[in-house]
Amino acid sequence: MKYHPIDSDLFVRNRAKFTAKMKSGSIAVFNSNDIYPIGADSTMPFEQARDLFYLSGADQEETILLLFPDAIDPKHREILFVRETNEHIAIWEGAKLTKEKAYEVSGIKTVYWLTDFEKVFFNLMTEADTVYFNTNEHYRQSVETQTREDRFIKWCKEKFPAHKWEKSNPILQSIRGTKEPQEIELISQACKITEKGFRRVLEFVKPGVWEYEIEAEYMHEFLRNRSKGFAYTPIIGSGFSACVLHYIENNQQCKDGDMLLMDVGAEYANYASDMTRTIPVNGRFTARQKEVYNAVLRVKKEATKMLVPGTLWAEYHQEVGKIMTSELLGLGLLDKADVQNENPDWPAYKKYFMHGTSHHMGLDTHDYGPLKTPMQANMVFTVEPGIYLPEENMGIRLEDDVVIQEQGEPINLMKDIPLEIEEIEECMNK
Ligand code: GLY
Ligand code: MN
Ligand code: MN
Repeated sequence: MKYHPIDSDLFVRNRAKFTAKMKSGSIAVFNSNDIYPIGADSTMPFEQARDLFYLSGADQEETILLLFPDAIDPKHREILFVRETNEHIAIWEGAKLTKEKAYEVSGIKTVYWLTDFEKVFFNLMTEADTVYFNTNEHYRQSVETQTREDRFIKWCKEKFPAHKWEKSNPILQSIRGTKEPQEIELISQACKITEKGFRRVLEFVKPGVWEYEIEAEYMHEFLRNRSKGFAYTPIIGSGFSACVLHYIENNQQCKDGDMLLMDVGAEYANYASDMTRTIPVNGRFTARQKEVYNAVLRVKKEATKMLVPGTLWAEYHQEVGKIMTSELLGLGLLDKADVQNENPDWPAYKKYFMHGTSHHMGLDTHDYGPLKTPMQANMVFTVEPGIYLPEENMGIRLEDDVVIQEQGEPINLMKDIPLEIEEIEECMNK
């Protein structure tokens, strides 16, 4: 791992939060991700299953976490199974988790080799009534591959048909949504790395550079700061491309006079950051660009103020829609008739601002977290309004990551990343 070790207290606390919500006599199992194949003997870089990481800190393939708070033998109340390591593996693949190291990382005292899983699991199942399965119920999930988790669930249902099943996901959605101080620190670290990338790019961008060269500048800064790279596929779109919401080709040349939208964030220790900045390719905003930019910025500032305990995500989006509508009226992009005749299910503003304003942020960029209950302190959200004008070859989005506070406005983890027009122009014209 490139990141500094994380104090295992975090994972101890996360497990305590999870087990406090389990029914008595139940076992919960969490599997690592597979290493996905490309072809021949090539594989994609490993990415740990976020739930397993959240509960154990184990950042290695072929890992299983078992939680059984009512186990008769106290040493079986939490068990981490890791892939058996040996000298051959150490020579070819480098250091893997030893039992001692696995304890150090996770705070779990009982560590077994993965080959012992079936035997140990069978034994513990004779003491348990219920198994918690970890399915993915994220509101935007769309998974076509069979995960290790899916294979385990299938195997377990066949092998133990007389047990009862429960879902881990609602527990995870609720506990992962509210961050521990250590997690906020890790997200903040990711945001600081993103800032370094952006400052580098502000000095690099000029007419004629290619979008992929800008991507490379970010990557350079991310890697040299202990990030393994982008938290999500970066969107670096100049001119018209900024209006393609999921533009990821990043293969066009940036032209004098165009705006450049960059939705990029570094990861750090598997925690994401999620930033969008939109800058003029030539370092100076035109009057029109300033006008639209400042409209987006005002919406962002007003939206941020609403991210306080008690706010409901759906109502918040309606309110942001109203603010955006008034800005679009101000810009002359909508007129009163457009608003009076609007379809309540697809209000007029959606012609220019068609995506959401905020999502939970954390181990996943679009993180797990409750969306139907009131917001609470220490939830981390993005704020990301935008206005997209394909006829003008211009799309502007501004995005920061903020932490909800008990009192007052949220803390902006990206407050040091240039955002105001004057600061951006100054950094680009040093
Ligand atoms: N980069 C994805 C998002 O902003 O939600
Ligand atoms: Mn983003
Ligand atoms: Mn976002």
